[in-house]
Amino acid sequence: MIVFTFTVSVLSLLPQAVPARWACVRACPPSCSCTQERSCSVLCDRAGLAELPKEFPCEASAINLDKNRIKFLSERAFGTLPSLKSLSLDHNNISFITPGAFKGLSNLLELKMANNEYISYLHTRTFTGLKKLVRLDLSGCNLFSIPDRIFIEQTALKELLCFQNNFRRVPGAIRGMENLTHIYLERNKIEAVAYNSLLGLGSLRYLNLQENRINVVHDQAFQDLVRLENFYLNDNLLSDLPRLAFKGLIRLRMLNLGGNQLTNISKTWFSDLVELEVLYLDRNQLLYIEEGTFENLTSLITLHLNSNNLTTLPFPIFQPIYFLGRLYLFKNPWLCDCSLEWLKEWMENYKLVRDIPCASPSSVAGLDLSEVAFAKANGTCVDPAELNLTTASSEIASTTENRFNSLISKLLQQELREEMGNGTESRRNGTLVEPEEGQLSAGVGGQQTRASQSALCITVVWLMLFLIGQSCLHCT
Ligand SMILES: *[C@@H]1O[C@H](CO)[C@@H](O)[C@H](O)[C@H]1NC(C)=O
Ligand SMILES: *[C@@H]1O[C@H](CO)[C@@H](O)[C@H](O)[C@H]1NC(C)=O
Ligand SMILES: *[C@@H]1O[C@H](CO)[C@@H](O)[C@H](O)[C@H]1NC(C)=O
Ligand SMILES: *[C@@H]1O[C@H](CO)[C@@H](O)[C@H](O)[C@H]1NC(C)=O
Ligand SMILES: *[C@@H]1O[C@H](CO)[C@@H](O)[C@H](O)[C@H]1NC(C)=O
Ligand SMILES: *[C@@H]1O[C@H](CO)[C@@H](O)[C@H](O)[C@H]1NC(C)=O
Ligand SMILES: *[C@@H]1O[C@H](CO)[C@@H](O)[C@H](O)[C@H]1NC(C)=O
Ligand SMILES: *[C@@H]1O[C@H](CO)[C@@H](O)[C@H](O)[C@H]1NC(C)=O
Ligand SMILES: *[C@@H]1O[C@H](CO)[C@@H](O)[C@H](O)[C@H]1NC(C)=O
Repeated sequence: MIVFTFTVSVLSLLPQAVPARWACVRACPPSCSCTQERSCSVLCDRAGLAELPKEFPCEASAINLDKNRIKFLSERAFGTLPSLKSLSLDHNNISFITPGAFKGLSNLLELKMANNEYISYLHTRTFTGLKKLVRLDLSGCNLFSIPDRIFIEQTALKELLCFQNNFRRVPGAIRGMENLTHIYLERNKIEAVAYNSLLGLGSLRYLNLQENRINVVHDQAFQDLVRLENFYLNDNLLSDLPRLAFKGLIRLRMLNLGGNQLTNISKTWFSDLVELEVLYLDRNQLLYIEEGTFENLTSLITLHLNSNNLTTLPFPIFQPIYFLGRLYLFKNPWLCDCSLEWLKEWMENYKLVRDIPCASPSSVAGLDLSEVAFAKANGTCVDPAELNLTTASSEIASTTENRFNSLISKLLQQELREEMGNGTESRRNGTLVEPEEGQLSAGVGGQQTRASQSALCITVVWLMLFLIGQSCLHCT
């Protein structure tokens, strides 16, 4: 008790002379506060500073200068601070950094200078002396490029954040930085990834190039990224990729190619991606997926194919089926004929797929594939009919039309089934029965068609009455 009181009184009397174990010893700069626990953190954020404080406590381990109005960093701007690990200058107004500004910060691990919108140029020797830097944040500045040799001393750098700048190409400065694990280059203006842009990045696990203007990727541009796990290439201008674009990316777990202009997918693209779990191909203009495309994706869990121009999805594309927790197919103009019957069965059996709106044939347009009843003729699927209802439907709202179509389709399918069961097999022996265009409109001859016509007439009248009844019910 006595000892305790004594210690406290000594400390309070002589705070400068008898330092507490972790506190900042030297005076805290004016307008800043300094923590007295564990390590010495100097907090000068939102202090309205237009210039750097003259001096910092020499045992400072972290300095936060965020959200001030600092414009300029002179040479050795922070003096010598051997304990400093983290320095943050986010949201200032820095426009010029004198070469050697950070000299004296030999143990700095993290440097943050994000959102300094007037930084458009960096000298080759900007980061001289920062030999231990692990993380550098230059996001939200106004950089168009950086010198190729700017990171010559930053061999320990692991994370480079440069998103939201004006880079027109992947900065050559990162080439060969074998310790880099994360690169953030999203929201720049990069137009191409050249064969040598990403050479020697053997530790890279995360690469973000989304929301650039990439329209060309050179063959094997990613071949050195053997440890890459997450790769964002979405929201660019890619309309094609080289045959062996992703060759060698055997650790890749997530690939995002969404929001590009791809029309065809080649089976050679993904052949090495045996660890891929999530693949985004949404928001392209896909028309065609080559058979075998997903053949080697033995780890795939989720596949996004929504918002494309796909009309069909041949079953062999998914052979062999290792696959899948989720398959996203909505917003495509699906042609819900017998070639998609397998998919309907899949939906029902595995519940991995939902939401496949049919765009055609017209008899099922607007329905979900799960609602389409495929007729069988002697065990063989019969395609839903293509109707010509341009005259009949002109005054009916499209949703009503769809309901109407589907009712007709169901009735017709039943009718067809009956017809088939009654000896038409000899004419339609086992092959898929493709209903002729206009089969159900006026003016086409033949016994079958006439039978269909009269059935249709009855159906139409019945449905009209039904619909009128409905809408009157609705009125009252
Ligand atoms: C920031 O710097 C620019 C140019 O260096 C200057 O035009 C602008 O007024 C400065 N803004 C503030 C808030 O100091
Ligand atoms: C990677 O980092 C290790 C230690 O952190 C270092 O020895 C090595 O030289 C670095 N590699 C490069 C290419 O800088
Ligand atoms: C896409 O594939 C189709 C069918 O193989 C082919 O006709 C077309 O030329 C291909 N388009 C492109 C851009 O490769
Ligand atoms: C799948 O992998 C095997 C073995 O690596 C390879 O021979 C085959 O070409 C790959 N398939 C595709 C479609 O690339
Ligand atoms: C895909 O569909 C959209 C509209 O749905 C169309 O504008 C675009 O031209 C189509 N793309 C291709 C490659 O057919
Ligand atoms: C549908 O019928 C109208 C006239 O009744 C005709 O002009 C049109 O070409 C037909 N469309 C199809 C797809 O048969
Ligand atoms: C053949 O059609 C008649 C009515 O026309 C029906 O009663 C009968 O069940 C049909 N036969 C088969 C095998 O479907
Ligand atoms: C099926 O019909 C085609 C003509 O439509 C005919 O050439 C073929 O011999 C028929 N096959 C059988 C098994 O009846
Ligand atoms: C229809 O199915 C029956 C029973 O499976 C079969 O014996 C018959 O040959 C089939 N007819 C045609 C034309 O395929």
